[in-house]
Amino acid sequence: MSALSLRGIHKSFGGNPILKGVSLDAEPGEFIALVGPSGCGKSTLLRILAGLETADGGEIKIANRDISTLKAADRNIAMVFQSYALYPHLTAAQNIAVPLMRRLTRAQRLPVIGSLIPGQRKTVADIKRDVRSMAASLKMDHLLDRKPGQMSGGQRQRVALGRAMVRQPAVFLMDEPLSNLDANLRVHARGEIVELHRRAGVPTLYVTHDQAEALSMADRVAVMIGGALLQLSPPRVIYDDPQHIEVAKFIGQPRINLLPSQIEADSTVAVGVRSALSNRTLSTGAAVTLGIRPEFVRIARGGDSGLKARIERVEFLGSEIIVWRPAFPLSSATDPSSGRSRCRRSRSPTRRGARKVPRAARLRSPRKPEDRWRQ
Ligand SMILES: Nc1ncnc2c1ncn2[C@@H]1O[C@H](COP(=O)(O)OP(=O)(O)O)[C@@H](O)[C@H]1O
Ligand SMILES: [Mg+2]
Repeated sequence: MSALSLRGIHKSFGGNPILKGVSLDAEPGEFIALVGPSGCGKSTLLRILAGLETADGGEIKIANRDISTLKAADRNIAMVFQSYALYPHLTAAQNIAVPLMRRLTRAQRLPVIGSLIPGQRKTVADIKRDVRSMAASLKMDHLLDRKPGQMSGGQRQRVALGRAMVRQPAVFLMDEPLSNLDANLRVHARGEIVELHRRAGVPTLYVTHDQAEALSMADRVAVMIGGALLQLSPPRVIYDDPQHIEVAKFIGQPRINLLPSQIEADSTVAVGVRSALSNRTLSTGAAVTLGIRPEFVRIARGGDSGLKARIERVEFLGSEIIVWRPAFPLSSATDPSSGRSRCRRSRSPTRRGARKVPRAARLRSPRKPEDRWRQ
């Protein structure tokens, strides 16, 4: 049984289709990263799940129960917003305690009189204990008395996380919770969220436009482009075996090199160097696109076969060097038959026909002394 199941979610704004039938299943305790370019409909999907927006069609189930028609408050879903959405007049402790206040009856919440109602003191003490324990696990005990205006972006983000995670909801939704943090803090917070998720064991849908976040944090990555979910697979599969050319293009930094080619008579494909195809169903002469990840391209030595390319720009990044080139190929290989290229094919893209080669695709060279080259 899926912990969370979406079936055919549709949504349009002003006649403009934004979500085009999104379906997804999350297993109990699973961390799914929903990644896609800005404007592809990620937040809209999350808001529909949380009950903050209504879908035009489709079904949402949590643990096999249809929640599509329930109000947001009754869905038992906790959400962390990109903007944090903290109450500015409440302290961090009070903000974190907000979802726990439902433990008190309306009368028990009244100032002064509430404390006279039996059970109120014990419940309030329990809430304070839970808030302190949440703050301790997020290492923010010292911030509990501060209001959002007195905290940094990173500290506010912790409060927002604490507020979402202080109770055990059926599902966690997180909408780019780290996008306002600087790079170092982001890497640190990534680890923290994964750790908290592991402890809580609650299925999580984590929205991001940052593929590094998605690949490093998630059990499975869902790639959404233009309102359609193109692939839902473990990070390694998404990277090594993209099922769609748009997925291959979106995941991977620097971007994959895409080269137009053709199936030859002996079931090989050639772009300067020749490579055998495992998929023999393609007919001779078919136009294909060959996808080669930058890390599988190396600088050829004298006598090696390969493609000639003019280097346009070299970027030194410390652990690696990125070599940019203009549109490929500039000229054919010296010896196409030797096949020494470490080319890597992605299955589906080769079936989808030739596409325009990006003007500035990239080669990447590991920064080992033997791989240095003279400019
Ligand atoms: N309430 C709304 N009214 C009209 N258009 C909207 C509304 N909310 C979102 N959109 C549009 O829907 C598209 C997807 O938005 P969103 O889900 O926020 O994208 P993402 O989170 O992937 O960046 C955008 O083009 C956005 O302008
Ligand atoms: Mg968004």
